[in-house]
Amino acid sequence: MRIGILGTGHVGQALATAWARGGHDVILGSRRPDDPALLTELKELVAAGLRIEDSATAVAHAEVVVNATPGTASVALLDTVGAPALAGKVLLDVAVGFLPDGTPSHPVVSLGEEIQRAFPDTRVVKTFSTIDRGVMVAPHSLDGPSTVFLSGDDPVAKQVVRGLLTDLGWPHDSLLDLGPIATARGQEHFADLFVAIAQATGTYEFGIRVVLPATSEA
Ligand SMILES: NC(=O)c1ccc[n+]([C@@H]2O[C@H](COP(=O)([O-])OP(=O)(O)OC[C@H]3O[C@@H](n4cnc5c(N)ncnc54)[C@H](OP(=O)(O)O)[C@@H]3O)[C@@H](O)[C@H]2O)c1
Repeated sequence: MRIGILGTGHVGQALATAWARGGHDVILGSRRPDDPALLTELKELVAAGLRIEDSATAVAHAEVVVNATPGTASVALLDTVGAPALAGKVLLDVAVGFLPDGTPSHPVVSLGEEIQRAFPDTRVVKTFSTIDRGVMVAPHSLDGPSTVFLSGDDPVAKQVVRGLLTDLGWPHDSLLDLGPIATARGQEHFADLFVAIAQATGTYEFGIRVVLPATSEA
């Protein structure tokens, strides 16, 4: 699949490397694709064949666009690409926004919903925002099954995203469809609990799991 990842930071690099290894055709989209410092930082990815382009080129290439930018900057960055270029695309949104004081930038309506409202012809699927980047690409590094959530209004787009997550090693039964994009609120608002769990356990590399009641045989 052709994937364009916006943001060349921790998440962008991890997902680009893993999907490219899995045979996907990935372009990393950057605001500064010719910056020598960026090219030095990404030299191993470039040596492995990954292309670094501007954001518009990455989106034009993509069947699936991945938003791996700071949540406070995502809508402005997507605006520079423009709604026509994003129309019809699946947008896999991992972003969460934080203000400089660490509080959420989207305390009520989620960033996922804001993006969907700003780009109504783009098919936004929120996922992975409850998981560290290392675990995103290595689910089997955990000591047991874990749950990944999906939120989005377009069932076909969610199927596409499910396929990309299973390509990273996530079993089908670990993927929990929460429903429409409004449920992205829960995923984004998990951020405070995520940080508290990380502080309590001493690691960001953990999973959470939804456990259902045992079935009764009465
Ligand atoms: N780190 C995690 O494990 C994790 C887990 C779940 C969710 N998330 C969310 O995923 C998103 C990406 O996280 P990350 O850790 O990869 O962040 P990061 O390392 O800071 O990278 C974000 C990238 O976004 C691009 N960008 C575009 N507009 C920007 C702006 N105005 N200011 C700064 N950077 C801008 C930059 O790439 P260019 O300079 O090349 O444009 C930057 O490298 C965030 O929303 C984060 O909350 C992260």
